[in-house]
Amino acid sequence: MSSNGTLRPETIAAQSVRGVDATTGAVSPPLYLTTTYARDENYVPKLQENYQRNGSPNLWSLEETIAALEKGQAALAFSSGMAAVMSLCETIPQGAHVVSLKTMYYGVRNWLQELQRKGRITLTLVEPDGIAAAVTPKTDLVWIETPVNPTWDVIDIAAAAQAAHKVGAILAVDATALGAVACNPINYGADIVFHSATKYLNGHTDVLAGILVTREVKARWQEIARLRAAMGNSLPPFECWLLLRGLRTLFVRYNQATSNALAIARHFSNHPKVERVLYPGLATQNGHAIAKKQMSGGYGGMMSLLLKTDFAGAKLFCTQLKVIAPATSLGGVESLAEHRKTVEGPSSTLPDNLVRISVGIENVNDLIADIEQALR
Ligand SMILES: Cc1ncc(COP(=O)(O)O)c(C=O)c1O
Repeated sequence: MSSNGTLRPETIAAQSVRGVDATTGAVSPPLYLTTTYARDENYVPKLQENYQRNGSPNLWSLEETIAALEKGQAALAFSSGMAAVMSLCETIPQGAHVVSLKTMYYGVRNWLQELQRKGRITLTLVEPDGIAAAVTPKTDLVWIETPVNPTWDVIDIAAAAQAAHKVGAILAVDATALGAVACNPINYGADIVFHSATKYLNGHTDVLAGILVTREVKARWQEIARLRAAMGNSLPPFECWLLLRGLRTLFVRYNQATSNALAIARHFSNHPKVERVLYPGLATQNGHAIAKKQMSGGYGGMMSLLLKTDFAGAKLFCTQLKVIAPATSLGGVESLAEHRKTVEGPSSTLPDNLVRISVGIENVNDLIADIEQALR
């Protein structure tokens, strides 16, 4: 317990905010699969909702726990990361301006570009240092991601928040790679924090989920909640239960991934077959000085290798790995590698020789040996 009596994040993650079940004493939370809840003798719902589309005890427990971890007032869990992103996008006023990054998770960037093509928004995509110059009085939303997927450049959240707030816009941060461990964007001025909870929060590559956390519950937040209910997009109980189970080991998983990734990044930094390692924990990385302050909870397990080869050679490298699986996604206990340009398709602006690695919690010597043999 900290000096002001609040539990520290590792304890919140390990026990969830609801802890031992109040009705049964169950230490591991019961799973409530029911879709409907009976009313009492006065015909009043016993719970705050009476139908699963609007919520379940497993959903509330998950949301309260993640809101506490991210230092927000409330959280909403969705059936995927993209469902959460699209619900937030739905609340952008017609014709309003959005500022985001040229390089970031391509699914969100593509969706913003599609909204622009449809005339729903105007969009300015910038380099990390271009946010302040791009905002205008018409800007409604600044959407950033840090570290940026898949170059892992680190963006200054406080500077982005200042730029957004100067023109009355909100700042939303895709904090997927931060895992709610490296830092809490709300402490740096973010209004909304987003996670693809499919990644570090769950950590076991078996749940698809998205989370939004808000600094304050205001009208816009309530609109997002209404949209989620109307679209039937809340996270079902079993997925919430699995995610809460994954959260219990969040800190040990993230810390081990950080330690493994740092060792791999250092090992391959001066390797004859590697042009450059992209990792927030390396002094050579764009934004490393910011990372040193901002990512005080650890640099995480995400890195990319720029190999001394071409498009075909980088793809071949992925197929030669024997311990690291050649698969998309990130933040799981098992290491994954992917040739990002192939996965992103023709719209990708990434280098041909970039291979993204999600470093897991395996023995780091096995991972290093695997990358060595694939490079050979
Ligand atoms: C950084 C980032 N944001 C958003 C998403 C989308 O989340 P989901 O796949 O859970 O819909 C992903 C998925 O890869 C991601 O890596």
